[in-house]
Amino acid sequence: MAGVNPYIGARRHALPTRKYRIVFRVGDEERVVEVDPARLPYDETGLKGSLLEIALGHGVEIDHACGGVCACSTCHVHVLEGLASCSESDDAEQDMLDTARDVKTFSRLACQCVPDGTKDLVVRAPEWNRNLSQEGH
Ligand code: FES
Repeated sequence: MAGVNPYIGARRHALPTRKYRIVFRVGDEERVVEVDPARLPYDETGLKGSLLEIALGHGVEIDHACGGVCACSTCHVHVLEGLASCSESDDAEQDMLDTARDVKTFSRLACQCVPDGTKDLVVRAPEWNRNLSQEGH
């Protein structure tokens, strides 16, 4: 379910034109995902090409209580490498991040963060997000 928050409208962002790699660190697991632009979108949750959509499309569980429409902060992640290749964070995303714990300068909402594919990424779900995910299972 890819969705758009009707209160903030659709966003424009560059999608990748070449393959790139994302290392997802969630809990004790580390998953390497090869992102192929030819396979986007996966029609999962979040903006087309977003970290959340890619994660879910490859079986990497990141919490996403609002369904990927920038209306919660449960998909909060730390982009440890490759942040410069990601779409810019806007006011709506920043407002939601203000409600999250353990926010860093490299924090993003996974459902709103769209890499352009010019760099490989390392993405970590913060400790509090991992705890929520574990409690849900
Ligand atoms: S899933 Fe709610 S803001 Fe990303």
